[in-house]
Amino acid sequence: MTDHARIELDGQTFEAPIIEGTEGERAIDVTKLRSSTGTITYDVGYGNTGSAKSEITFIDGENGVLSHRGYPIEQLVDQATFLEVAYLLIHGDLPSREALASFQENVTRHTLLREDMKRFFDAFPHDAHPMAILASATNALSTFYQDNYDPDDPDSVEKSTHRLLAKLPTVAAFSYKTSIGQPYIYPRNDLSYPDNFLHMMFAVPAEEYTVDPDIARAFERLLILHADHEQNCSASTVRMVGSSGVNMFASVAAGVDALWGPLHGGANQQVIDMLEHIRHSDADVRTFIERAKDKDDPFRLMGFGHRVYKNYDPRALLIKESAHTVIRKLLGSDPLLEIATELEEAALNEDYFIERNLYPNVDFYSGLIYRSMGLPINMFPVLFALGRLPGWIAQWREMKNDPGTRINRPRQIYTGPARRDYIQIDKR
Ligand code: ACO
Repeated sequence: MTDHARIELDGQTFEAPIIEGTEGERAIDVTKLRSSTGTITYDVGYGNTGSAKSEITFIDGENGVLSHRGYPIEQLVDQATFLEVAYLLIHGDLPSREALASFQENVTRHTLLREDMKRFFDAFPHDAHPMAILASATNALSTFYQDNYDPDDPDSVEKSTHRLLAKLPTVAAFSYKTSIGQPYIYPRNDLSYPDNFLHMMFAVPAEEYTVDPDIARAFERLLILHADHEQNCSASTVRMVGSSGVNMFASVAAGVDALWGPLHGGANQQVIDMLEHIRHSDADVRTFIERAKDKDDPFRLMGFGHRVYKNYDPRALLIKESAHTVIRKLLGSDPLLEIATELEEAALNEDYFIERNLYPNVDFYSGLIYRSMGLPINMFPVLFALGRLPGWIAQWREMKNDPGTRINRPRQIYTGPARRDYIQIDKR
């Protein structure tokens, strides 16, 4: 196969090298295009632009394949713990028993928040969205660890990694407790990562609370399934912000904000709203399928479609299995799961969705599981963020360690007015 692409421009030929990844993906390297020809590439939404060479996650969207550091997601979700996957993403390989023990110990040791940080939660309105609180609190961590956040110092990077993994579940649970007016439940370092989070969320000081192991495992599976997804909107944001040289807390806070949007991690919340809306409306599922197809109607089938997957999202397949098991155990049945199943069946048999390769994505069934566990709907994107955190950290660290990293600074094609002269205000 050719190792160069040729661009003919104004009688000149630009030769661009071809880069090939381990799984055979190819890219035209246009790094020198502007300096050689004065012309740039134009790619709104970056659908054809590789912004990094990365060793972390591989996705084959056409065939519904997802793997981390070479390990298929199906194996990780069934056999690994979340912290093992976090280690794999961040350090590049599965940990030995000793390495995992030490990683777990480091993460566990940092679960407490500084006491003064508790006042932070009181300052927000009680109905504040927990994603806004999570982003603010993540940013605020940089005010508490100023002597230890130098992005160019490997020890500080290691400490920031442990602190973020340890403290974000505590921040998330505290923001929830604030919103429902219950006392904070401090982290318990004798519990596993998922058990500790569920305990902080659901325990109250007045009673003993035992975490159901089946629920904890279902929750851990969801964390694993969200752990990384290569150069998505929030991971690219984390890399972009980090490329300016700012610390990891500030970069991850920006990632939380990017994830909040309804087209990204906010979609799981929107799916439940949509299913509730369908349930309480007089119209049937078919009506909503027709509305989703109608270009003049803003209604979209939330939890459907993906920029990269043009096949069934492998995470959605695994989550769908879990949804049936968990809901059967916890609720017996759920009318929203029935509507979701009906919607999926109807959509997958409809030309509009078939032609556009629109399949359920990770958000379609995840909200139903969270909801059956009693997790409140506005916490869903927060739970996504807790899962995605190791991915953001791994992407940030890879960006920092890449000697080729430059500040991210896209170009544009200016389409505003051509040069004109200033007009005095009384003459306009
Ligand atoms: N319902 C109805 N039509 C849809 C949907 C949908 N959910 N998704 C895409 N389409 C249609 C578009 O209208 C477009 O049709 P056209 O070619 O006739 O104009 C075509 O499918 C292609 O869609 P785009 O919006 O161009 O695809 P893009 O890659 O830009 O967007 C996105 C992907 C944002 C995920 C989109 O599918 C969407 O809005 N889905 C609903 C929101 C959602 O579930 N987001 C979560 C994504 S997963 C994640 O971030 C974790």
